Amino acid sequence: MKTGLIGLGYWGPNLARVLSQAQHSDFTACCDLDAAKLRRIGRLYPGLRLYNNADELLDSDVESVLIATPIATHYDLARRALLKGKHVFVEKPLANTSARACELTAIARSKRRVLMAGHTFVYSPAVMRIKELIDSGALGTIHYLSFSRVNLGLYSKDVDVVWDLAVHDVSILLYWLNEMPARACSFGRSCVQLAKRDVASLWFQFASGPVAWCEVSWLSPQKMRRTCVVGSERMVVYDDTEASEKVKIYDRGVNLRRPQNFGEFQLTYRLGDMVAPNLPNTEPLLCEVEHFLECAESGRSPRTDGKFGEDVVRAIEMAMDIGWKPAGVCEEMRLATAAPELAAAVGSGERA
Ligand SMILES: NC(=O)c1ccc[n+]([C@@H]2O[C@H](COP(=O)([O-])OP(=O)(O)OC[C@H]3O[C@@H](n4cnc5c(N)ncnc54)[C@H](O)[C@@H]3O)[C@@H](O)[C@H]2O)c1
Repeated sequence: MKTGLIGLGYWGPNLARVLSQAQHSDFTACCDLDAAKLRRIGRLYPGLRLYNNADELLDSDVESVLIATPIATHYDLARRALLKGKHVFVEKPLANTSARACELTAIARSKRRVLMAGHTFVYSPAVMRIKELIDSGALGTIHYLSFSRVNLGLYSKDVDVVWDLAVHDVSILLYWLNEMPARACSFGRSCVQLAKRDVASLWFQFASGPVAWCEVSWLSPQKMRRTCVVGSERMVVYDDTEASEKVKIYDRGVNLRRPQNFGEFQLTYRLGDMVAPNLPNTEPLLCEVEHFLECAESGRSPRTDGKFGEDVVRAIEMAMDIGWKPAGVCEEMRLATAAPELAAAVGSGERA
């Protein structure tokens, strides 16, 4: 399938590399507004057609397009590509509002074209193995999930840390639980730049029971990519900074026993073994791009299709309390009604 790539900034060259390796790929064209970036990619992949205008690439014979441009441009470029009959892969997040993501999904459906959101972690062997553990019931009832994605980060020019980093965690969370949150809220702070959060925490509550929180920061001394899933039967720690043994499954927990007589201690601790499963050594980005190309050829719906991409954007909007309103009320709003002094303390940083 003849494939083109739009956007050759920080991330685009990684997509170019996997496009040049992927099965089903005939990587033929690239586009960027910046001539120097085009020249550089042309030197790396001789024979590519180079465009400095997206419409020229979209008017060419490419059948599928990958978009890795700034988030604010995703909707417009993806819409134009779909209307010209291309299969479209859009880097995360699918669009900067859920209404726009929803419109893209509808256009893809009406044009019978594949639309996929680039949520790379959903294609990682570690994340897929944990999904199997959750779905098989091996972890028991899921109590809570915590995500930490912090480091001394690369400050994005156009978006805050939530739209840059939390998108990854929210995509993993929705993939694992296969459920939209019933309630969500967040708070954060702009420490270095004006009105651009570089630290934030998002909280979610699901109707089936679990709660989850995601901590993201570009302003932290150590790199952490750590997720913990706590179930009634087992607990899992997923550390993406580990070269091997990224996933550790702990047979640990606490049970509440029905007391036999008055005063008997009711809690028993289970301190079983830890197992680190052997995971395939496949590159998530390559798997993701091959999945897109396979779906474009077969017409199958991708794992992270337009609807999934839309749900991720909607969940973030819920947490940030903009756009679509959550079913429940935000914790800070609840506090504001119940205890105004406490709400003032919670909201003393900038409200996300
Ligand atoms: N999946 C991941 O793990 C991952 C990691 C990093 C970034 N991303 C995503 O990749 C996308 C790009 O991020 P980035 O950090 O590379 O941004 P960037 O700003 O470094 O690069 C964007 C590029 O797009 C070009 N561009 C902008 N408008 C254009 C247009 N209309 N036509 C053609 N080219 C245009 C710019 O010249 C620039 O070269 C974002 O959506 C980001 O969220 C994904």
